[in-house]
Amino acid sequence: MESPWEHPDWYDLHDVVCRACGEREPEHYRELLLALPPLDAIDHLVDLGAGTGKLSRLIAQKFPELGRLTLLDPNEKKLQRAQTRIAELIPRERIHTTTGVLGEGEFRLDTNATVVVVGSVLMPIMQQRGGTLRDGLDWLRRSLEQIMRLMAKGSCFYALETISEPWARSTLDQPVRRLLMLELIDEVERAGLESVECVYRFRDRVVIRARRPNG
Ligand SMILES: C[S@@+](CC[C@H](N)C(=O)[O-])C[C@H]1O[C@@H](n2cnc3c(N)ncnc32)[C@H](O)[C@@H]1O
Repeated sequence: MESPWEHPDWYDLHDVVCRACGEREPEHYRELLLALPPLDAIDHLVDLGAGTGKLSRLIAQKFPELGRLTLLDPNEKKLQRAQTRIAELIPRERIHTTTGVLGEGEFRLDTNATVVVVGSVLMPIMQQRGGTLRDGLDWLRRSLEQIMRLMAKGSCFYALETISEPWARSTLDQPVRRLLMLELIDEVERAGLESVECVYRFRDRVVIRARRPNG
């Protein structure tokens, strides 16, 4: 099938607007916040690929009674920065940090998360690792298996991602790319999560919500 970019009218319409620009980032993060359930002292939020804590900080601002927050990232210095920032919002003893790498080997985390968030991690890291689309999917599936194991029954999963353009197509042996919306949803369902829903989308920016089954 010919790429839509070959059509001159379509090209002119989409030329500079096919992606959400950086100005949409605050809205993207805010919509994840709005899709969260009420978080309280009984909750344990796990932020995977937490970086310097942008997402967890926003959540802690809105839900200061949050019982426990665990931040995982491969980068120890980013985690320290995140902990310092978030400790301005909730008591430090409720914040735990751990270095770890999704999709590579094992990491030790309690398996009682009531909410797991991944903010701009799955798609960019899948792409940055390189290799083929098959390699990328293998990494994503290992990561989602690890995420499932952390989640308490009935708990929620949120992925804030920037996905592929809708016209992207490639076979498993071609270079890795970000996934299309339906491909990402398929992978989340394949991992065993249910009630998978897109709770926000603007062009390539999306938030996916899913639940670990109760049974
Ligand atoms: C784009 S940043 C997002 C940070 C934060 N979640 C946010 O929303 O601002 C991606 C983060 O993923 C971390 N990272 C890279 N590889 C990872 C992996 N395999 N597992 C978990 N985190 C990873 C990076 O260190 C970086 O902090």
